[in-house]
Amino acid sequence: MCFSSLITFLNLLSFSFTEQYKVVGPADSVFAVAGEDVILPCSVKPSISVVDMRVEWHRLDQKYLLVHLFDDHEDRNTEQIQSYRGRTKLNHQELQRGNASLKLSSVRVSDEGLYKCFIQSKSWNDDTTVNVKVEAVGRPPVITVDGFDHSGGLHLQCESEGWYPEPDLEWLDSAGVSLSSETTETHRNTEGFNVKHTITVHHSDKIHCRVKLRHHMLEALIISSSNMFNSWRTSVIVIVVLSVIAGILIAVFAHKNRGKILVFLLFYIFYVNKAV
Ligand SMILES: *[C@@H]1O[C@H](CO)[C@@H](O)[C@H](O)[C@H]1NC(C)=O
Repeated sequence: MCFSSLITFLNLLSFSFTEQYKVVGPADSVFAVAGEDVILPCSVKPSISVVDMRVEWHRLDQKYLLVHLFDDHEDRNTEQIQSYRGRTKLNHQELQRGNASLKLSSVRVSDEGLYKCFIQSKSWNDDTTVNVKVEAVGRPPVITVDGFDHSGGLHLQCESEGWYPEPDLEWLDSAGVSLSSETTETHRNTEGFNVKHTITVHHSDKIHCRVKLRHHMLEALIISSSNMFNSWRTSVIVIVVLSVIAGILIAVFAHKNRGKILVFLLFYIFYVNKAV
């Protein structure tokens, strides 16, 4: 009788332990900036030391691969994914306070994804999921002047590399009015997204190329002077005038030498046709 009530009491104890303690993570996604460090929050609530427990960090979305393991009072990372080598750290002081947050250094675009923080003692275990979002701020945009088209429009090209996720690229005139791009190209590589947009402008202006990602923004400016458009017009006028002069000269020459040209033509028709 007394023994069974002791069992019931112990069961209640372990039940209350199971019920009472929870592994908790962040309420929202964790944002990390490529190249910087980030903390992936994970702790036991109410706080209790996890120094004597097993703490596992895994990539949930990548075959459950091991990111960090603390077991038997030590970090044991022989099975850790290669790409995380030397970049993960559990603060052992914090483990005593039930804080199993993982510090990940030199964040990469490939670190984006779902992580599982799993904590296990002899009688209990629980886990939480941490969603990591990575942002990479690319290189400043570069504007290239790509020459004039046949109607005197100036071709501009703006390019920026190394963004993650895909940024927005926008052309703006001096009044801040958005101009629509003519062609847009996006390429993805392991480092992130490269974007390239083109536009044609028909008069002198200050043109901005702005690349934006959430609260990050980089911009390039080009000033096309009226001189550029004038020199294009001048060169077109020069070409037209030269063509007209050449045409007149050819006509005059042909008129003056029409006898010789006629003889040459007859000669050509007679002999060349015969030869063929
Ligand atoms: C948990 O530990 C990390 C360091 O690993 C620290 O940055 C964070 O503030 C700690 N969290 C709490 C709630 O104390």
